[in-house]
Amino acid sequence: MNIIKPGTPVGLCSDHAGFELKNIIAGYLESKGIPTRDFGTFSDESCDYPDFAHPCALAVEAGEVYPAIALCGTGNGIGMTLNKHRGIRAALCWLPELAHFARAHNDANVLVLPARFIAPEVALQTVDTFLDTDFEGGRHIRRIEKMTNW
Ligand code: RB5
Repeated sequence: MNIIKPGTPVGLCSDHAGFELKNIIAGYLESKGIPTRDFGTFSDESCDYPDFAHPCALAVEAGEVYPAIALCGTGNGIGMTLNKHRGIRAALCWLPELAHFARAHNDANVLVLPARFIAPEVALQTVDTFLDTDFEGGRHIRRIEKMTNW
């Protein structure tokens, strides 16, 4: 778990569509001794993903959590919301290989999972890869700086 910062929990957020998989991921991380901070939602009742994405994004930007894992049905709505924040690089990943490059090339600080389109086993493998992969730096530093400086 290369990118985990001791003393800093992993942030979690979802809407109702991601609620069940978020709980599976929380249990998985806690079984590995990785603390989490859950920004909700806290039931499968229909809700609006921005209500949970924005507080989670602010906490990542403030360094209160790192990284974060976000889920909605497709991953698109919650990912779009997170990426409205200048300090967020949220990457929609449905395979471990995508999580590898989101970290290695994009220094993604939020993993976004499409809860209705990914099996739980694949989701956990994708989480593992995301948390295990360091940013490569080098030429990618210039590129990620140009995301917000243009
Ligand atoms: C909820 O039905 C669904 O729209 C939401 O989870 C997400 O997929 C939106 O992008």
